[in-house]
Amino acid sequence: MSTARIDIHLTDDDAEKALRADVRRGLGATPKQLPPKWFYDARGSALFEMITELPEYYPTRTERALLERSVAEIAALSGADTIVELGSGSSAKTRLLLDAFVTAGTLRRYVPQDVSESALRQAMDALAAEYPQVELHGVVGDFTRHLHLLPGGGRRMVAFLGGTIGNLVPAEQAEFLADVRSVLAPGEQLLLGTGLVIDEEPLVSAYDDAAGITAEFNRNVLHVINRELGADFDVESFAHVAVWDRVDEWIEMRLRAERAMRVRIAELDMEVEFAEGEELLTEISAKFHVEGVHTILERAGFAVTRTWSDPEERFALTLATAS
Ligand code: SAH
Ligand code: AVI
Repeated sequence: MSTARIDIHLTDDDAEKALRADVRRGLGATPKQLPPKWFYDARGSALFEMITELPEYYPTRTERALLERSVAEIAALSGADTIVELGSGSSAKTRLLLDAFVTAGTLRRYVPQDVSESALRQAMDALAAEYPQVELHGVVGDFTRHLHLLPGGGRRMVAFLGGTIGNLVPAEQAEFLADVRSVLAPGEQLLLGTGLVIDEEPLVSAYDDAAGITAEFNRNVLHVINRELGADFDVESFAHVAVWDRVDEWIEMRLRAERAMRVRIAELDMEVEFAEGEELLTEISAKFHVEGVHTILERAGFAVTRTWSDPEERFALTLATAS
């Protein structure tokens, strides 16, 4: 029988306080910006799952193929009895890891952690039926704030897949990796998925698909603010923009006001003016070079064990050990 528990480190109240602070700060700033974690209410998480199936969005299927090729080796090199996954979402690709670690005979426990309680609960319900022999311990939390509250014990491998580290700016990436290192004992591991720098055209298409699903995902943050903070964004008056910043080597997703607007955010007693054409930055998605991934891991106190990448070098998976 599988056992399942869920720790809540981010209550609805905490999340609302954090959203208020981020909206007040981000929409009061020049240029305006919002952190990407607010995309992921139930609708946003479902839209992200649709994105992973889009023909243009290569990262998920590339990482899945890489995992298919490398999981047996990862399990053998790791020997972990606990897989902790940060930003686990639907845990879809994780099943490849779980299967390999079960086959290797080491896996005892899986700890998915996500800011989205609905995505976490849905994933755990399915996993409980599929992996009755594995202890499930879910955690609702923010991986930029709550790593110190992750369950300890056993021999852990932290998985951070999907290229989600690229949604942090470099200073945040460094802080995040140092935080992960600080909660691990020497010998415990991190498995990190990173999108790599490729040609501009397929990169931009991956973030600006023909069916408009990424545009809906992007605009979803405005629906979240309307619902949670009583704002009156006219969501359809914002256009989805995806641009490649070749200097910083990241994609920027923005929302461009199609006309001048004044938005009222009732719960914050705040009014925000948008000029026609003004853009709100909603996400960066940084792409890496393999050497750069090694450098940030080593600076954070990890030794690189091994990196796998696909033949077209679009994505990399790196296993690193806390030294
Ligand atoms: N790992 C999955 C999902 C990636 S989507 C994959 O590879 O397909 C990014 C996930 O991270 C979402 O489920 C989102 O809810 C979660 N997330 C985003 N910001 C987060 C944060 N600050 N803390 C915890 N989870 C976060
Ligand atoms: C979750 N994260 C790695 C995705 C990415 O590719 O940066 C989020 C996303 N944004 C637009 N499409 C997908």
